[in-house]
Amino acid sequence: MTKSQQVSFRRMDEGSFEDYKLLHDYEVDYHKETPRRILEQLALQGKESLSGYQINRLEHGLQSASRAEKDGADLDWIVAALIHDIGDGLSPQNHDRMAAEIIRPFVREEVAWVVEKHGIFQMKYYAHHYDWDPDKRDEFRGHPYWQSCADFCERWDQMSFDPDYPMKDLDHFAPMVHEVFSRKAWDDDVIKAGVVVGLPASRH
Ligand SMILES: [Fe+2]
Ligand SMILES: [Fe+2]
Repeated sequence: MTKSQQVSFRRMDEGSFEDYKLLHDYEVDYHKETPRRILEQLALQGKESLSGYQINRLEHGLQSASRAEKDGADLDWIVAALIHDIGDGLSPQNHDRMAAEIIRPFVREEVAWVVEKHGIFQMKYYAHHYDWDPDKRDEFRGHPYWQSCADFCERWDQMSFDPDYPMKDLDHFAPMVHEVFSRKAWDDDVIKAGVVVGLPASRH
């Protein structure tokens, strides 16, 4: 396959089997680069992110992941903590859901749910200052992953705005990003639907 190969069609419904075989082959190679693109997006958050905080969004992710790692959390949790705010730049109003969709094919269902809902659960810590409902999370009470999300926010997310915390750098987490985002997408053995692992005991 050379780089110059292209499909014959200009509208999808006119494509041939060979066209779609070609696209599939290219897609396989393209997917292999997902981990690199994830890391580049995280690095970008070290250059441009929300003002006013004492650390930038890259550092916030690094700190969250460092805390997860120190607690002995598994790979799914560590990478989720690292990328949970990766959506801030492109979809600030629903950054939690964007991050969840990015990681969902490659981690436990529990972990993706926690990333998706962390924005709502996180309101517990600040919403009263804006006259919003800090207990909006209560609409999910009774959900099997509720406690995991509450713990994720309590121990890793809301804690990680400290410029003095000894956080690991992006190079440290890069192999973990490669491992998670190189997994077979939607593998039942990874997704583990309905399984609650929860967070390990705190070592902080
Ligand atoms: Fe967030
Ligand atoms: Fe966060």
